Amino acid sequence: MNLLRTLVPAPLRPAARRARSFVRGLRPVIHPAPLPAADCRAAVRVARAVPPAEAGRPFEAALSVTNHTPAVIAPGGRHPVGVTVSWRSYLGELCGVPDAFVPLPRPAWPGEEIAHPFRFTAPESLGDYVAEFAVVQRGGPAFERVGGRAKLDVAVTHPLDGEFNYHDIYARADLGQDFWSVSGPGSRAEFDRLTPIKLKLLTDLGLTPDSRLLDVGCGTGLLATAAEGFLSDRGLYYGTDLAPEAVEFCKGRYRRPNFHFVTSGMTTVPVAGVEFDVVAFYSVFTHTYPDETALLLAEANRLLAPGGVIFADLFTSPLVARHAGSRYAVETNRDHVLRLIALAGLDAELVMTSPWNGQARREFFKFTRRG
Ligand SMILES: C[S@@+](CC[C@H](N)C(=O)[O-])C[C@H]1O[C@@H](n2cnc3c(N)ncnc32)[C@H](O)[C@@H]1O
Repeated sequence: MNLLRTLVPAPLRPAARRARSFVRGLRPVIHPAPLPAADCRAAVRVARAVPPAEAGRPFEAALSVTNHTPAVIAPGGRHPVGVTVSWRSYLGELCGVPDAFVPLPRPAWPGEEIAHPFRFTAPESLGDYVAEFAVVQRGGPAFERVGGRAKLDVAVTHPLDGEFNYHDIYARADLGQDFWSVSGPGSRAEFDRLTPIKLKLLTDLGLTPDSRLLDVGCGTGLLATAAEGFLSDRGLYYGTDLAPEAVEFCKGRYRRPNFHFVTSGMTTVPVAGVEFDVVAFYSVFTHTYPDETALLLAEANRLLAPGGVIFADLFTSPLVARHAGSRYAVETNRDHVLRLIALAGLDAELVMTSPWNGQARREFFKFTRRG
């Protein structure tokens, strides 16, 4: 029974609640032993949804906990009472994120409801999670849940300190001093190491010295460097990039007459009147959202010669319902992206996969025109 509601007239209740909380705050209750199982009953309610949480950083879940035990439940001592969060994927599957415990902010008396922003840490891996909250006493029996389950959808994304954007990256870069790190490699040596590797992936798919190669998102020319020494005079190389700075840099650096560079749009490749045997998107779809990825692949399909292949890498994660993260690194649900890509008229084949971040992987796909 809620004595406050029974005994105090409605207009005086807020002041009475404040006075009661103050007095209770002065008398922390510490359980010397866990509460008996029969007494452990509580309800947790989620008061409101949360905005996207930042991976590995604190976020606040507005919860209310109602004490249905005949005793005071309290945060202190050897058997503190608090709220645990357990994490599942958006499909309701266990996902390897450990449970976490946050003590109650203050003692809750029998029948009392405490509304409080409980501060938890978001999982490290990006994804679309379901967080489930329960009242527990450390070292004691599980609390019987009163009322429904307290669940919250939590989208976990990159730290939201600033949106990553290639236009800004190139605007700040000094390509005369350091052209390699703009496109990812941390050093010139790493740029040089990756150059033959990225070429070999394409020759394995059928690129020959006489091929016509389209390199979308060419950056500062990692693949152009390799192609310069590989393509014959009958071959053709087109590099396109969102950043005009990258295109200007490449025009100055890769000067063979069968090498061309063009500035492209976020979802358009402004090339016409030529077909390509191989189209490469290296570390481009790791920065585009699934609908943009599908539109770029439709462009690649438009420019593909009969029998040609498209090669691209994506970050995929089983924890992501559609996509998560920012343009710094977009993680996707593989089935979702492949459905969109199928609408662009392409068949997909997984060629290679390697670890990325948390449960996400970098997956390399070969795409070919359907039928
Ligand atoms: C990580 S870098 C990779 C560069 C190069 N492909 C490589 O493998 O080294 C990504 C490049 O893609 C470009 N980019 C990002 N989104 C793009 C888009 N929608 N269309 C064309 N280029 C894009 C960026 O400007 C950047 O130069």
